[in-house]
Amino acid sequence: MLLMNHWPYPTIVAHRGGGKLAPENTLAAIDTGARYGHTMFECDAKLSRDGEIFLLHDDTLERTSNGWGIAGELPWAQLAQVDAGSWFSRAFAGEPLPLLRQVAERCRQHHMMINIEIKPTTGEESRTGTEVALAARELWAGMTPPLLSSFSPESLAAAQQAVPALPRGLLMDEWRRDWRELVQQLGCVSIHLNHRLLDAGRVAELKAQGLRILVYTVNRPQRAAQLLGWGVDCICTDRIDEIGPDFRG
Ligand code: G3P
Ligand code: MG
Repeated sequence: MLLMNHWPYPTIVAHRGGGKLAPENTLAAIDTGARYGHTMFECDAKLSRDGEIFLLHDDTLERTSNGWGIAGELPWAQLAQVDAGSWFSRAFAGEPLPLLRQVAERCRQHHMMINIEIKPTTGEESRTGTEVALAARELWAGMTPPLLSSFSPESLAAAQQAVPALPRGLLMDEWRRDWRELVQQLGCVSIHLNHRLLDAGRVAELKAQGLRILVYTVNRPQRAAQLLGWGVDCICTDRIDEIGPDFRG
């Protein structure tokens, strides 16, 4: 079931923009990834209460900002005031939460590709999938299409319905017995897995279905080399310095 013969994405993907070298999911993180020569990054996108798409990994603000509460319940005007850099280090003080629109501008500026992980606030799975797909089509016009991914089949189904042409990947942190049916229903071109779930046999099984394989979060070069040797297509890493853009194992 090969749905996308043309796979334009590189082997190494910077996790959350700049891995562990900058505050995750910020413009500064993307700039850091670019400075290390990376040509693609992954980031986590969700909706504010009033429908703006911005980057944040967690449902709540506490871990990676000076804000508090459920981010998806706040209007963008409030989220825009949050400092998402100081928790990481003083050098990044005042770094804001980025809008997806600003992320697209950075991609244009740095000639970078993107994997947008749709990370909905609980209860907003479908709306987030729709809005991210529509925005991605518009904002990335003329650039390599964003690779959309999600742990939420509901978000992927909504993205598929809104913009069928955008490539989609199913994320799995635990092995799902129904992965075949899901990737088929959702028209996925790729499967994105916690690398701990894989062995050579499973890689072969997934490849036999015509799927591309992205693994996260691989931070040891030796493990990255092993996974690439088995036939994995993309390594998503926090160690953007040790596993650089030219890493091939
Ligand atoms: O998309 C790969 C990876 O980012 C999924 O896990 O928790 O880091 O978003 P998480
Ligand atoms: Mg992610």
